[in-house]
Amino acid sequence: MALLRKINQVLLFLLIVTLCVILYKKVHKGTVPKNDGDDESETPEELEEEIPVVICAAAGRMGATMAAINSIYSNTDANILFYVVGLRNTLTRIRKWIEHSKLREINFKIVEFNPMVLKGKIRPDSSRPELLQPLNFVRFYLPLLIHQHEKVIYLDDDVIVQGDIQELYDTTLALGHAAAFSDDCDLPSAQDINRLVGLQNTYMGYLDYRKKAIKDLGISPSTCSFNPGVIVANMTEWKHQRITKQLEKWMQKNVEENLYSSSLGGGVATSPMLIVFHGKYSTINPLWHIRHLESSDFPEHVYAQKSATGKLVF
Ligand SMILES: *[C@@H]1O[C@H](CO)[C@@H](O)[C@H](O)[C@H]1NC(C)=O
Repeated sequence: MALLRKINQVLLFLLIVTLCVILYKKVHKGTVPKNDGDDESETPEELEEEIPVVICAAAGRMGATMAAINSIYSNTDANILFYVVGLRNTLTRIRKWIEHSKLREINFKIVEFNPMVLKGKIRPDSSRPELLQPLNFVRFYLPLLIHQHEKVIYLDDDVIVQGDIQELYDTTLALGHAAAFSDDCDLPSAQDINRLVGLQNTYMGYLDYRKKAIKDLGISPSTCSFNPGVIVANMTEWKHQRITKQLEKWMQKNVEENLYSSSLGGGVATSPMLIVFHGKYSTINPLWHIRHLESSDFPEHVYAQKSATGKLVF
């Protein structure tokens, strides 16, 4: 009797395995891009890689987001998958915006960001309430939002891209680096521009160096800051280094000790990143970022205005 039950169990197990294999094959087949007939000629390398681009769509800034998406989409032949991130109550509106515009052809997913993850991590700052918009912190949580991709691009909604996003995506991340950013003072002209529009380009502008926790970091206040409005990130490395946890720690510390210079634009989301990524990031080719600043019709088409968050638009 016992033997019979064993055999039954083995048979059941085999049946389950077979089912799993069939199921896996089915699903797998569905995701493999179809190539018309000729299997031999197309090696995997030739199949177009999907570029995941994360961008937020805040309720009052939907137009900016659509302009950003349009600027990316209309300047590349690459196969882009847009992850449009919003809060729960705006998700249907985002879908409508996209589907009722010429952007309906884009490949996109709408992703919900739950602001509850920020509970107790944001310091109420009545002077610049717009900076507390929860979506500003989406960039801290990239691996929670994106699962199928190792390399990901994040863009602020106030960015207008005039180059091919493929070039940005091809940015090389050094081994052990979870992200690449563009430095705020890579080119001499960048400093002049920053001064012109009153932006900070050193750590001093974002961190309160009178606080012990900041002094103890041992980072020179004149260190050039970077701009986390454009990120090329490696999700594997991000998870490995627990970047999200580290960023959360520095948010929490700020709630307790008020470590960041709140008077300056972009401070809330930028400061923790400056700390966590200090000395540990790759750089985005400054020419990709700045190239447009050098065009002759500067400044109208280049970084026409400072956005609500005081960030440089390019
Ligand atoms: C991402 O990081 C992992 C772990 O360091 C590394 O093996 C992989 O090659 C990196 N991928 C990219 C696209 O940089």
